[in-house]
Amino acid sequence: MIIREAKFVMSNSRVEQCPPPTLPEYAFIGRSNVGKSSLINMLTGQNGLAKTSSLPGKTQLINHFLINDEWFLVDLPGYGYAKVSKESRAQWGKMINYYLRKRESLACVFVLIDSRHAPLAPDLEFIDMLGTEGIPFVLVFTKADKMSGSRAHQNVKSYLAKLQESWDELPRHFVTSAAEKMGRDEVLNFIEDVNRQLAQAAENS
Ligand code: GTP
Ligand code: MG
Repeated sequence: MIIREAKFVMSNSRVEQCPPPTLPEYAFIGRSNVGKSSLINMLTGQNGLAKTSSLPGKTQLINHFLINDEWFLVDLPGYGYAKVSKESRAQWGKMINYYLRKRESLACVFVLIDSRHAPLAPDLEFIDMLGTEGIPFVLVFTKADKMSGSRAHQNVKSYLAKLQESWDELPRHFVTSAAEKMGRDEVLNFIEDVNRQLAQAAENS
């Protein structure tokens, strides 16, 4: 897919205030600092479109970006940031759970995982929740440039093996690096395919 245009639309904390749910939507979620905003900038080819920071907790709201006037990309705040108070964590949980359950145009959730890390409880719990709720999702392993190719491959393999302990069917996964623009075509082509399938399904109904 060619990105002709990517623009910021709005930030808010409630589904009711999000743009009308008329276009397919892809949400990026994962632990704080995993590289959600960086990946969005890499995919859209616009550095600075989504705000990034080396300090965790940069993204605080639900941020909508409109791509090619055809679909929405959504940057969500990260979870698992230790310095956040219990109340803000509960607030995060409420906002995200409500968004994931209520956003009718949500086509797919991209769950980002740092490709250097072993499976961590908050990620596994989040993935289990998506599976149980039947919310479509894929996995994106980030920051692959921080390791050798074979180490990254090995880590991804053992991560998937861990998931297979509880799930028969593995979700689709992508290995990416925002720094090296790795995985860009794969992710964008996936989104293009889903957009096409959704358009066909709408035509047939
Ligand atoms: P929050 O909004 O705080 O939840 O973080 P985020 O998940 O949006 O992470 P962000 O994109 O802000 O990136 C966090 C840090 O990781 C920044 O310092 C980025 O430069 C760095 N980073 C992100 N992606 C990559 C990558 O692919 N490679 C490398 N080397 N660094 C990356
Ligand atoms: Mg962010």
